Amino acid sequence: MKQFTSARDVLNPEALVKEAMELKKRPRGSLRHIGQNHTIVLLFFNPSLRTRLSTQKAAIELGMSAMVFNAGQGWQLEFEEGAVMNLDKAEHIKEAAAVVSQYADVIGIRTFPSLEDRERDYSDFVLKQFQQYACVPVVSLESAIRHPLQSLADWITIEEHRPAHRPRVVLSWAPHPRALPQAVANSFLEWMKLADVELVLTHPEGYELAEEFSRDVTYIPEQEAAFEGADFVYAKNWSSYRDYGQILSQDAGWMITPEKMALTNNGKFMHCLPVRRNVVVADAVLDGPNSLVIEQANNRTYAAMAVLKRIVGDME
Ligand code: CP
Repeated sequence: MKQFTSARDVLNPEALVKEAMELKKRPRGSLRHIGQNHTIVLLFFNPSLRTRLSTQKAAIELGMSAMVFNAGQGWQLEFEEGAVMNLDKAEHIKEAAAVVSQYADVIGIRTFPSLEDRERDYSDFVLKQFQQYACVPVVSLESAIRHPLQSLADWITIEEHRPAHRPRVVLSWAPHPRALPQAVANSFLEWMKLADVELVLTHPEGYELAEEFSRDVTYIPEQEAAFEGADFVYAKNWSSYRDYGQILSQDAGWMITPEKMALTNNGKFMHCLPVRRNVVVADAVLDGPNSLVIEQANNRTYAAMAVLKRIVGDME
């Protein structure tokens, strides 16, 4: 694997899921020879708990060194070609990406959309600029429009709890007080379309996701109808793609409750975290026996290990 920015970078995503599940079974410390003498630099343009720690943990388990740089705080990068840099931007992406490549065998980048300029966000501008000017493989730690490591971990979690029948997997919008990116929802659909599942999407009017991601996904506008017979309910808030970055609804009627989960096929509850309790999901669901959120977070490590193992392996 030469880069990891979307499902398209993976030849056989299902095989990658299986490989991650195999890595999970291996004794701690038994894989440290794989990434020996390799370094990953993790650049964060916005805060992270899970992505930051699980990717570092994955690197440690593979014997890699991991260095973390908080690029967003006090380190303003210029991205425009031909910019006259006489304002607040200290360094151009051309130098920054090339310089980081001198210290890293792999660069991981976490970016955030503006939620103001849809065209620019959906060109995945920051990630693409790093790919253009870096001389080493780039791994997305969440970009403006995708979160592939999260989706890989989610797929692993679904495999671990897969029922005997083809599971019904429902992605449900849920309310949130802040405007959030569409990245997790986009990616979840992108990856789940490649899995052997019945995929259903439910959200209020105005929260349609970009056609590139929602194409061929069954859309059911009534949340309760969508939940009927669900084996997995994945809750996530996102701001509007149509009215870009806007919060159109904070309707508490879309919160995930025990009553709604009772409509499912003893369905499992999933969320990428962090989650707003009793806004996105009721305590009783999140704390209940069918909540998979901590397992999802745990699987972030094995998703990152599987990806880094392939990238490092392809350098040999
Ligand atoms: N799910 C996720 O990416 O969490 P962080 O924002 O804490 O990394």
